[in-house]
Amino acid sequence: MEQLKQKILQESAIVSNDVLRMDSIINQQVDPSLIMEIGKEFAARFKADNITKVLTIESSGIPAAFAAAYLLNVPLVFARRKQTVINDPDSYVERVPSFTKGMVSDLVISKQFLNRDERILFIDDIIANGDGARGVVKIIQEAGAELVGMGIVVEKAFQAGANYFREQGIRVESLVKIASLDSGEIVFKD
Ligand code: G4P
Ligand code: NA
Ligand code: NA
Repeated sequence: MEQLKQKILQESAIVSNDVLRMDSIINQQVDPSLIMEIGKEFAARFKADNITKVLTIESSGIPAAFAAAYLLNVPLVFARRKQTVINDPDSYVERVPSFTKGMVSDLVISKQFLNRDERILFIDDIIANGDGARGVVKIIQEAGAELVGMGIVVEKAFQAGANYFREQGIRVESLVKIASLDSGEIVFKD
C-alpha cells in the first residue's frame, strides 16, 4: 500500500534495530481517511470469505479493525489487554508476553462475543513476534470459531510472527512489510 509506505517514510522514527515509532500513524494519532483506505484494502482482500466478525486487540488495532468491520458490515470485537486477571468463567483469557513492553498481560474476551459458528478476521496494527496474535488464535480455537485470516497493517518481516502463522497454513495479509530497520534505514520488503 503505497500511501502507507510514504506516510511511514515521512512520519515514523526508528527507535532501535527492531522498533519503529509510529505514534502519528497508528499508536496515538490516526488519519481517518488513511484508516478508511486501510479498511477498504482489508475488506477487498477478504470480501469473498464470509467473515462474520472482526477481532482485534486494544488499543492500536481498533481503528483499522473498525474500518474493515464497517466495510465488511460485521461487528468488531476487541480483546481487552489487562494486567493479570483472576480466572473468570464467562471470559476467555490468554496470558501473553509483550516484546516491546517487557511484561506479560492477559488478553480477555467475554464468551458472549465469540460463538462457535463464527468466521473470524483478525486485524492488528503491527505484528512482531506474534505473541498477541497467538493469544487471540488460542481464544478463537477455544471458542470453536474459525480463523479465516489475519490482516496486518505493518508486518515487521524480520521478526518471526507473520511467517509463524503462514507456516501453520493461516492466511496473513500485510499491507506493508518491513524487511529491516538496520543502519537507521527503513527497508521495505517487495
Ligand atoms: P507481538 O504481539 O507481535 O509479539 O508483538 P509484541 O508483543 O512485541 O507487541 C507488544 C506491543 O508492542 C503491541 O502493542 C505491538 O503493536 C507493539 N509493537 C511491537 N513492535 C512495535 C514496533 O516496532 N513499533 C511500535 N510502534 N509498536 C510495536 P500493544 O501492547 O498491543 O499496545 P497498543 O499499541 O495496541 O495499545
Ligand atoms: Na501497538
Ligand atoms: Na496492537
